Parts: sequence; C-alpha cells; structure tokens
Amino acid sequence: MRVKSKSAVLHMLLGSPNYISGQELANRLGVSRQTVGKCVQQLREEGYKIEATQRLGYKFLGDNNLVTAEVLTPRLHCPLEPIYYATVDSTNTEAKRLLNAGYRGNFLVVADEQTAGRGRQGKQFYSPRGTGIYMTVVVHHGRRLQDAVSVTTAAGVAVCRAIEELTDKHPQIKWVNDVYIDDKKICGILTEAVVGMESGLAEAMIIGIGANMQTEQFPPDVENAASLDADVSRADMIAAIADHLWEILDDGYESYIDYYRSHSMLLGKAITFIRDDVTTPATAIGIDEIGGLVVRLEDDSVITLRSGEITVRPRCTKKS
Ligand code: BTN
Repeated sequence: MRVKSKSAVLHMLLGSPNYISGQELANRLGVSRQTVGKCVQQLREEGYKIEATQRLGYKFLGDNNLVTAEVLTPRLHCPLEPIYYATVDSTNTEAKRLLNAGYRGNFLVVADEQTAGRGRQGKQFYSPRGTGIYMTVVVHHGRRLQDAVSVTTAAGVAVCRAIEELTDKHPQIKWVNDVYIDDKKICGILTEAVVGMESGLAEAMIIGIGANMQTEQFPPDVENAASLDADVSRADMIAAIADHLWEILDDGYESYIDYYRSHSMLLGKAITFIRDDVTTPATAIGIDEIGGLVVRLEDDSVITLRSGEITVRPRCTKKS
C-alpha cells in the first residue's frame, strides 16, 4: 500500500463530517476498495478512530487530541512543514538530526510524547504522552548570533498570544521566556542555533516549545509547574503558536517588544540573578529594546542582563 493513498484516505475522512463509502473513496483516489480497506486498517493501528458501518462506509470519529501532520496542515497558515512523531527522544534533537541529514527549508517537528525532553541548563523537560505540546520550529533566517537572542523572546510572545487568542487565561512571561499562569510555569522554551563556521551567522534557529496542557501530575523534582487546563485542542494551540511565531519573525522585533513588556511578570519585583557563580540581589526595572532585563543593583547602579536565570525574591514583611 502506498503511503500516499493512506494520507489521501485520511485527508478525505478528516474533511468529511459524514460517512464516505469505501467505493467512493476508491473512486476518488483511483485505487481498489481493498486498498482503501488496508489504508483504514493501518490508520486505526496508528491511533485514528475510524468507524466503519456496512451500508454507510467510513467516518472519522473526531479525536480532538491528535497532533499528526494531517491534522496540523489545514490549521497552519504559515509555510512551516509539519513533521510528526508518536514518540521521539526530543523534538529539538530530532530537528538537529533532520538538519544534519540535509533537510532544508522551514519546518515544525511535533511529537505526542518525548522520552528525553530537554530543558535549559541541562534540565529534563517532563513530556508525557498526549497531555502536552512538544514542538520545535526550525527557521533559516541567517541572523547574526547576537540578534538571534530575540528569537527566544519572540517565542514567549507567540505562546502568550496563542493562549490569549484561544482561551480566557492571562499568561505572563518570566524573563527570558518561561510562560506562567497564576504564578505557575506552564511552558518553557529552549532555543538552539546552527552557526555557520565561515559566516558566523545563526543559519538555522531551532526553537523548542514545551507546554503542559492537561498534565495532572508532575515528578517531584519538577517545581512550580501546572497545566494550561483549557478547553482547546493541542493541534489548534500548536498551529496558533507557530503562526504567531512566524508572523513575529517576519515582522521584526519592534512589533512585539511592547507586548513582551506588558506581559512581563518581573517588572518592579525584587529578584536575584546568578553571574559567575555569584548570586546578586536586584530589582527588575525594565526590558530594553532587544529584550534585555534592566535591573537596579543594591548600590543603585543599573545594568542589563542578556541571559541567565532569575529568581523572584519573596516579599519581606517589615515587623513594626
Ligand atoms: C525549559 O523550561 O527549560 C525549556 C523547556 C523546553 C522544552 C521543549 S519541548 C519541545 C522541545 N524539545 C525538547 O527537548 N525541549 C523543547
């Protein structure tokens, strides 16, 4: 059986709210009814819920939780090619493998589950099957590496815009690009780059986004995490994030930095940051034009942080 026939059968079933007879599918695709039967059988084995009734034919029983390429393609408005895996170690790692294998163009790797999801600073990203979004956008923008930092903040904005578009939740960004709702982290972003040896340019940006959608329990070492827990399908959310990210990367940085500032959960807060192994207390006072965090130190000097991890200090209540 040709893979093409299988995707064509799936495409027709996904696009039809009613039953389609085996004969009609066979006629439309120019294959035998037996081939249609085999395609349906294989699609079922892959997890698609397809009902078959003797007189009426086949019908796709809408599974709201699928994130396959066939489900994503009609939802995506940007020109990213979706590539789906039921299980993969890490969508970022897979994206790098695809680039090494000669894959060019801009693409979107999505998995239903990751067995070795990666977070920043060598941490793991808990990625159970079916309850989260595990996606990596690969774009070839040829930016200078220092400009590529802006891609990271762009991804945080894209996630927040998608959440606001599809739900009634109020996301906030913890610098650089963790997305929080009600003081709990629901999304993390890991951006990597393929740098050309000669050009010194970030030839491909690998933007990995992990969001907890309906994960109920987290391992004990995962601190302060929660799920979005909204009535929205993973496929709609993935497509909206990809579309918003694409739009920002196309429009340039100025278009979203005000949005980033207005959604920052750090401004005005007492924080600590670690630099050269030294933990320094400060107050977050601004976000500069290219996404740096402007902080006031205790001696009143002002510096701008370009990377690193920030901790919000608990408020001290003065005793009288
Ligand atoms: C963080 O919170 O430190 C960043 C987490 C990034 C997780 C995403 S899930 C999709 C992509 N694949 C990975 O292995 N990591 C990123």
